[in-house]
Amino acid sequence: MTRVLEDKVVVITGAAGAIGTATAKLMAERGATIFGVDIAGADWSRLKAALPEGAKLVTTEADVTDEASVKAYVDKAKAELGRIDVFFNNAGIEGPVQPIESYPLDGFLKVLSVNVAGVFLGLKYVLPVMYAQGSGSVINTSSVAGLIGSPGMAGYNTSKHAVIGITRVAAVEAASKGVRVNSVNPGPIESRMMQSINSGQATDAKAAHDATSGAVPAKRYGTPEEVAGLVAFLASDEAGYCNGGFYTVDGALSAT
Ligand SMILES: NC(=O)c1ccc[n+]([C@@H]2O[C@H](COP(=O)([O-])OP(=O)(O)OC[C@H]3O[C@@H](n4cnc5c(N)ncnc54)[C@H](O)[C@@H]3O)[C@@H](O)[C@H]2O)c1
Repeated sequence: MTRVLEDKVVVITGAAGAIGTATAKLMAERGATIFGVDIAGADWSRLKAALPEGAKLVTTEADVTDEASVKAYVDKAKAELGRIDVFFNNAGIEGPVQPIESYPLDGFLKVLSVNVAGVFLGLKYVLPVMYAQGSGSVINTSSVAGLIGSPGMAGYNTSKHAVIGITRVAAVEAASKGVRVNSVNPGPIESRMMQSINSGQATDAKAAHDATSGAVPAKRYGTPEEVAGLVAFLASDEAGYCNGGFYTVDGALSAT
């Protein structure tokens, strides 16, 4: 395994989740120090078990929607690890699964708060650290839901389209300062989140899973590890001219 992220400090939000954990594991294997952020009470055991022996990990509990908490985790990462080379701005929630006519406003606003305001606040406090360094790579987690419509997913799809928008704004602001900002756009991934969405789509979650698989040209869900591979590439200096883009990892779903 090439250690292309040797000595890089990587901040990951939603680090205790499926995609956060797989990405932390891969980046640690490539030499990175991981600063994991997740909500109070998150179960860190899966992340701790996944990391290779000797990997450097700091964990912090913070709500990405709370500005003071975001400032505090960024200050802590800077104070304890000295710099932030990579920011995987990844925490997100799926929200309700309901047609628009019955979709609750509070659920809609909650999804926008975590998936959009959370991403915005992370950028607001991490970018100045990277500007001062003159380098850095940010990867925001959007989704194939940021590119297409999915029935029942008004809050989620709206939020993930917005993540592409703020990624573009951040990239054009940051590019002249040596900082890259891109998004990753995963399709359905075998995970708790897709199980929750499938359960909301039909009383038979397995039937919903199979229908979704069938709609993907690759005829399967992806894995968190397949998302991690793309994120780790965008994080690395090998992606030096990748800026302001969105990158799908979706078995060709968004190409249909
Ligand atoms: N699973 C999929 O199929 C899929 C597909 C496309 C995009 N995504 C996106 O990938 C990202 C990660 O998803 P996942 O599948 O790993 O889901 P997950 O639920 O396993 O992980 C999400 C993590 O975010 C954390 N989180 C939620 N709200 C938070 C808050 N306010 N503050 C701090 N942390 C918070 C959760 O505690 C959780 O650990 C999300 O942005 C999701 O929308 C997932």
